[in-house]
Amino acid sequence: MPNSKDIRTIPETQGKSRWTPPRGTLGELVASADKRAEGLLSQQSSLERWAAAVGERPGLEAALRRVDVALIAEIKRASPSRGAISPTLDPRAQARAYEKGGAAAISVLTEPQRFTGSNEDLEAAAAACKLPILRKDFHVAAVQLYEARSIGASAALLIARALSPGRFKLLVNVARQIGLEVLAEVRDERELEEDVKQQQVARGQYLVTIGGCNDCHTPWKMGAKGPEPDMSRMLSGHPEHVPMPAPPKSANGAWLWSGAATNTAFAGPWGVSFARNLTPDEHTGIGIWSEEMFINTIRSGKHWGVSRPILPPMPWFNYAKMSDEDLRSVYAYLRTIKPVKNQVPDAVLAQ
Ligand code: HEC
Repeated sequence: MPNSKDIRTIPETQGKSRWTPPRGTLGELVASADKRAEGLLSQQSSLERWAAAVGERPGLEAALRRVDVALIAEIKRASPSRGAISPTLDPRAQARAYEKGGAAAISVLTEPQRFTGSNEDLEAAAAACKLPILRKDFHVAAVQLYEARSIGASAALLIARALSPGRFKLLVNVARQIGLEVLAEVRDERELEEDVKQQQVARGQYLVTIGGCNDCHTPWKMGAKGPEPDMSRMLSGHPEHVPMPAPPKSANGAWLWSGAATNTAFAGPWGVSFARNLTPDEHTGIGIWSEEMFINTIRSGKHWGVSRPILPPMPWFNYAKMSDEDLRSVYAYLRTIKPVKNQVPDAVLAQ
């Protein structure tokens, strides 16, 4: 089980002296769990009845104690850090395969938004095998525990960091009353954030590579095998120490525009454009740009997201079609690269 070092089967208190509501990704997940729990309130009494009517479920703790190496195998379609993992999985077939493979228990992600799970996945897995099922979700209210029991879970995950100590105790008590076991995960939100961040940065690096940003934003130099981007100045834009003379006249129509040897300055009907410094340098790069400003810039094709139109050959209209998630990843990656102090000249707009 991933992060098993962080999993305990008994409730523990956090090292922090005072609990504060989680922020970031965990905060978002908890907020959407609150909404889902609220939506369930009208069904609370039927869920309570169903929970009481569900027959004995195989015990999770007992199953984990039975064998020396007890594996909890997971059914998960997606996660906030990894994106889609297995969107089309068949929970029935997977549960059977895990059972045959010797798993001691199965955990099923039912969180719908970021993990694209569902109660149906859990019900299907529970019906397909005899193993105890752990419901992994963001359990924030008692009604969700009734729900967990009524769909066939043996145990529910409680994330200590997501719950105030009082609420945590309350949920443990409710679970006990209805014969639902509890697995408490003690893991702080910083770790979750870091996971998400790492995956995001890796995705951003990939997108910047295949998106060809280095082609124009990294100055080219002459290498042993011909011109190549000078990666020691990666993405730092047109070098300030390479002043460009007036561009050649190219009015005959067949040759429309000219590019500098560095491939960072371009003259054409739009005037002269210089690829910008995309490194996190605060004075000359995008160090002071917010994520929102970056996304607005690419989406709107406007300088700084608000001002004049971005000039060719920056193909912003292609990048504007990236998903929010991808644009955020590109931004996250750009924050991590080496800052290079390089003041790119202002564009010269054609009259
Ligand atoms: C074909 C060349 C080219 C490619 C490829 C390219 N850019 Fe640009 N980019 C430019 C030029 C030139 C400018 C400056 C345009 C201007 O001054 O209006 C620019 C400007 C920008 C700006 C600044 C806009 C502003 O507000 O001043 C950002 C941000 C940017 N590019 C990001 C990227 C990213 C991210 C990629 C890769 C996914 C990329 N560019 C790929 C040529 C390119």
